Amino acid sequence: MSQVKYKDYSEISIDNLLSMTGQLPFGVYVQLSIDKFTLIFKKGDIVDKERFEHYSAKGVQQLYIHRSERRDYISATEVLVHKLKDAKEFNLAEAQKAIEELTEQTLFEIYEDKVFDEHSLRRTQTIIKSYIDILKVDPKNLATFINLSRQEAYPCRHAIATSVFSILLAKAAQNNNEKTLSIIGLGGLLHDLGMSKLPEDFDSVNRQLTPQEWAKVKSHPAMGIEMVNQLKGFPEEVKLVIEQHHEHWDGTGYPRGLRGPEIFYPARVVAIADAFSALTTRRGGRALYTPQDALALLLTESGKYDPALIKVFRTLFKVEIKKAS
Ligand SMILES: [Fe+2]
Ligand SMILES: [Fe+2]
Repeated sequence: MSQVKYKDYSEISIDNLLSMTGQLPFGVYVQLSIDKFTLIFKKGDIVDKERFEHYSAKGVQQLYIHRSERRDYISATEVLVHKLKDAKEFNLAEAQKAIEELTEQTLFEIYEDKVFDEHSLRRTQTIIKSYIDILKVDPKNLATFINLSRQEAYPCRHAIATSVFSILLAKAAQNNNEKTLSIIGLGGLLHDLGMSKLPEDFDSVNRQLTPQEWAKVKSHPAMGIEMVNQLKGFPEEVKLVIEQHHEHWDGTGYPRGLRGPEIFYPARVVAIADAFSALTTRRGGRALYTPQDALALLLTESGKYDPALIKVFRTLFKVEIKKAS
């Protein structure tokens, strides 16, 4: 047992851990007090359900990994996602839990550990491919990702919600092509990647930003492009989404003030999903707007968005989003 800082540990999904077979490439901890954690499964162990149940009977409800082993945990989760997706008897509920965990941990790594590399890219592609598979089974299942409960970190929640709303909107607008859906989904997930380079207190909801700070915030599309340009094989179309998600249909957006169809179609889809998600995603304890009020606000500002898409979003809202919210 060692004394450590709470932020060195990260909570994991118990269901996800119990689905893992084979030797664990990471250690698993329980929390004893505010700053004391102890190892219950060490690296190399095989998950022993009875041992877990023993802890569970003693009141243990949360399990943790050390942040330094997050990458190993994500790798094991990625293997599990592929295993569950390829299983003869495909169980969507079980696969969905692993996909949720892969989503959350991958985004924690990007926004909290500040790591984005080729592995992160491959994992985000696996996540979006899984979202599209889930969409094919039932769009309502995909909508449940918007409310992943454990996730309090706003940038992660916002990324997931934007990606899910983008895919639902694109599909409702009759985009059935998988490649288009995956550009839009990945664009939604990574649109604010550049924000991970800004200090954490750059939050315009909780305090007023200075003009210099605003200028920095507005450079996040360019910072995102800089980050992805360092990776080999980052999809060009997804770069366009990162670059153009703050452009407005009426030409009032940034960075270039593009207008109407000059804006790349997937970026127009993500722009609507992004605005809706920013208004309805929980920050701290609560969301700024209810889904109904957020939709009303978007409609009053509808000059900013592609008119055909905003029309579809409105109908989509009635059938899918309202139920999921
Ligand atoms: Fe943004
Ligand atoms: Fe955003």
